[in-house]
Amino acid sequence: MTWLGIRRVELASCGSTNDEAAARARSGAEHGTVVIASAQHAGRGRMARSWHSPAGQNLYLSCLLRPHLEPRAVPPITLAAGIAVCDEVTSRGVDARLKWPNDVVVGRRKLAGVLTEMATRGGSVDHAVIGIGLNANTTHFPPELGAIATSIRLETGLPVDLGDLLERLLERLEQWFDRFLAGGVAGIAESWSRRADLEHPVAVVLDGVRIEGRPAGLDHDGALIVIEDTGRRHRVVAGDVDLLPFEERTP
Ligand code: BTN
Repeated sequence: MTWLGIRRVELASCGSTNDEAAARARSGAEHGTVVIASAQHAGRGRMARSWHSPAGQNLYLSCLLRPHLEPRAVPPITLAAGIAVCDEVTSRGVDARLKWPNDVVVGRRKLAGVLTEMATRGGSVDHAVIGIGLNANTTHFPPELGAIATSIRLETGLPVDLGDLLERLLERLEQWFDRFLAGGVAGIAESWSRRADLEHPVAVVLDGVRIEGRPAGLDHDGALIVIEDTGRRHRVVAGDVDLLPFEERTP
């Protein structure tokens, strides 16, 4: 690693590592600073969801970047982080795929999520915080997550050394962030699509209307392209994409 995680803040517990990283950014922390906690008591996901963050079991980390990008070019960095996570868990024998925009899944179960947040100053990006939650050793999830979450340990049967996982993940994150910062979405789109589940039909709600179709990769700005059976093409720029079981597709 040459820049990511050279400076680190290691916490036993905090509310959210994203909030800790943002607070440090406001106090001048450098590009590449990584905040990592053993536990979070207010871990957050997209759309105001909470992130299950029990102590000592999984990775909860946030990377502080100060990218020279326009604000609208920053959010797809989530996709680059997803690639890094997907590759790391795949190298450990997990059959993981990417689900737009921020999930790493095994089948329909979520293994990891990425939450990117940003602050601007005078129309420019002051900093971005890319938060990653990766379920490593959890074997018992709360009832509401039991059917929709998984962990490396549940997938492989093997316990995970969190220190080793962190170092390897940071290496990969640095490579993929570098690639994104140099080439934007175009530099990572093909790699993202290769790791995404493009076979699975999906459902999305666009302007209040439910659409079913097949994901067909990323548009130039990181939007997901979904194509209906009729051939109609849609751009998904926000919201959730639900993986449909193959048999449950509405005729
Ligand atoms: C999601 O799937 O919606 C994103 C989940 C992101 C969770 C991580 S855990 C580390 C960092 N701190 C947070 O509060 N959230 C992110």
